[in-house]
Amino acid sequence: MLKFVLFAALSVLVLAEEEEAQPQSRFLEDVQERVVGGEVARPNSWPWQISLQFKSGSSYHHTCGGSLVKRGWVMTAAHCVDSQRTWRVVAGDHNINTNEGREQYMSVSRVHIHPNWNRNNVAGGYDIALLRLSSEATLNSYVQLARLPPSGQVLPHNNPCYISGWGRTSTGGSLSAQLKQAYLPVVDHKTCSSGSWWGGTVKNTMVCAGGGKDSGCQGDSGGPLNCQVSGSYYVHGVTSFVSGKACNETRKPTVFTRVSAYIGWMEGVSVPTHAHTHTHTHTHRRRYTHSKHTLIAKTNTCNATYTVHIHGCTDT
Ligand SMILES: *[C@@H]1O[C@H](CO)[C@@H](O)[C@H](O)[C@H]1NC(C)=O
Ligand SMILES: *[C@@H]1O[C@H](CO)[C@@H](O)[C@H](O)[C@H]1NC(C)=O
Repeated sequence: MLKFVLFAALSVLVLAEEEEAQPQSRFLEDVQERVVGGEVARPNSWPWQISLQFKSGSSYHHTCGGSLVKRGWVMTAAHCVDSQRTWRVVAGDHNINTNEGREQYMSVSRVHIHPNWNRNNVAGGYDIALLRLSSEATLNSYVQLARLPPSGQVLPHNNPCYISGWGRTSTGGSLSAQLKQAYLPVVDHKTCSSGSWWGGTVKNTMVCAGGGKDSGCQGDSGGPLNCQVSGSYYVHGVTSFVSGKACNETRKPTVFTRVSAYIGWMEGVSVPTHAHTHTHTHTHRRRYTHSKHTLIAKTNTCNATYTVHIHGCTDT
């Protein structure tokens, strides 16, 4: 079983890069597709949803989703950003092909991938990354911060949630420029990890949601699973992978990184850093002592443990 899982994981990862035939499961980061089923979202109704785009030639292309978690920080999937590219984040977007006047474009100054992420073992988990924006988003009625769950919170079976994204509208399907959403209730870990569902591929650091006719699909990766708890929406999941047979294969719910398992890691990474202190070990040590967050010193250094993948070492 373990071998099978590892093999499946390898297929997944290769697939993300090269479109191999008959993958066991696949990431959702492709440019061209959207949420399967569901409906077009009311514009800006998920105001923390961002489009992560990479530069090719002189233009930018949508590849993944993400959530604005602080004015200068975006949470996305590790597999979206583990190749060296020039990234751009678009907040306030609805139709990614037209400028509607509500968009905010921000470049990415640093990419922090979870240190345990292994692109050859997606079933291991840790598919999460934080992006440091080079400018802060302006919060307004179209752009708002995501609420994150308390550390460790696990939602019950059938908790109402929506996936949102610009991903494929069907397996191998066509483009739709507008942000879509689909209702995907939580499938609890006991059910999701049972033999006729995902089995051992899903870990308790993941959230399963859906499993019926609607699902995430290529292009939704990194985006939010928006779950209703006590009347508000919290981002409980980062879209990670689906079955390689079909995005909406029955009893293969869309799998998300469970955000509540990574709150501590994110707090360590995204504590406000202070520019121009990188090169001064002595300064670090003092700041470290005064900080409640023990990871701050590590995140301030260019070759830090917690900054596996860096685009530009300086925090300017
Ligand atoms: C998957 O989605 C397609 C397109 O929406 C739909 O026609 C099909 O019935 C769905 N498959 C399942 C198993 O629900
Ligand atoms: C960078 O890594 C090297 C080797 O691991 C280490 O000696 C050095 O102190 C590190 N520099 C910083 C700024 O962390």
